[in-house]
Amino acid sequence: MTLSSEILTRFAYQLLIATKVPYPKAELVAKSLVAANLRGVDSHGLQLLPFYIELILMGNIDINTDGRVVTESGGSLVYDGQNGIGQWISEICCGHAIRLGRDHGVSLVVSRESNHFGAAAFWAQRMSAAGMIGIVMCNASPLVAPWQGKDQRFGTNPICVSVPGPDSWLLDMATTTVALGKILNAQFHGRSTIPEGWAMDSDGVPTADTQTALSGLLMPLGGYKGSGLAMMAEILCAVLSGGAMSTELGGIRIQGQPMRTSQMFLAIDVARFVSLDEFARRMQSLVGMVKSSRTATGFEEVLVAGDPEWRMEVERRRDGIPVSDGAWQNLVQAAEKLGVSVPS
Ligand SMILES: NC(=O)c1ccc[n+]([C@@H]2O[C@H](COP(=O)([O-])OP(=O)(O)OC[C@H]3O[C@@H](n4cnc5c(N)ncnc54)[C@H](O)[C@@H]3O)[C@@H](O)[C@H]2O)c1
Repeated sequence: MTLSSEILTRFAYQLLIATKVPYPKAELVAKSLVAANLRGVDSHGLQLLPFYIELILMGNIDINTDGRVVTESGGSLVYDGQNGIGQWISEICCGHAIRLGRDHGVSLVVSRESNHFGAAAFWAQRMSAAGMIGIVMCNASPLVAPWQGKDQRFGTNPICVSVPGPDSWLLDMATTTVALGKILNAQFHGRSTIPEGWAMDSDGVPTADTQTALSGLLMPLGGYKGSGLAMMAEILCAVLSGGAMSTELGGIRIQGQPMRTSQMFLAIDVARFVSLDEFARRMQSLVGMVKSSRTATGFEEVLVAGDPEWRMEVERRRDGIPVSDGAWQNLVQAAEKLGVSVPS
């Protein structure tokens, strides 16, 4: 099924409204999920919505709360998400990070007791659109064993950095070789195998079998270095905010308990260091230097982080967003349950 971003956003919005999510929150969640699809990050697009709906219908998420500021001091702020909608809590936290970044040059906002916020890029882009370097991380349900272990202790804890400027540098990555959603996406597409290096079985032995991977372990990015980065995110998000850590977290596929994720939003006001024009010129120059490298065998060009997604966005705005059969089936099922008409 391929549909335009406008139609898909409206569909997602209607599903959320039918789930009793208040208007501005439903709009934000729909927009942020479809933004991930537009960028080609389908693992964090609409395929998440049926899981969110399930959790909301079970009363696992408090759709009405706005959370509250716990403390604010200088450029630092701690936020209690009070089990609210992750995207809504993130939107509020980004607003605080931008405000404090302007006042102090650098700000750090950490939230606890929040919920899944989708792709980290959407929030880092909120800050870069305001002229800040936006850095975002979160902890997530424990699915990843620490290096040399086989029990799940870390989430896929993403790290994202977005810098100001059109189509500028945007790094958004899980601290595993791939996000879990990519393996689920392979399953949704009916692919029985995944690339080597994505996952291990439950004993920590590498596997390329999709089903074994789904009941096994995700591979930390680059072995112990990925484990270290995941722990860094855990510290900056959860230890610092007073939130749930490691095995204390629930998850979007775990029913009957709140997710309790923590998130961090770091804003660096570029204009305090160099003017935004100068920054843009220097970024352009850096990207030029990187791309001036000769290409390795088998490649036609050197890319920098963000390039694949900007290109995909141009394509999908023009041609529409393809939704996998598996993800579409789940969305249709949710629509039928909620009495929402399905676009075609
Ligand atoms: N909310 C959560 O709990 C959670 C957890 C984990 C991941 N995520 C999200 O999952 C999404 C996907 O993560 P991922 O690690 O699978 O992404 P990925 O591996 O597709 O891409 C990671 C980064 O590499 C860059 N990249 C890709 N190809 C490149 C190339 N050839 N040259 C240079 N750079 C290149 C991309 O632009 C991107 O910035 C992210 O949006 C992340 O925020 C969310």
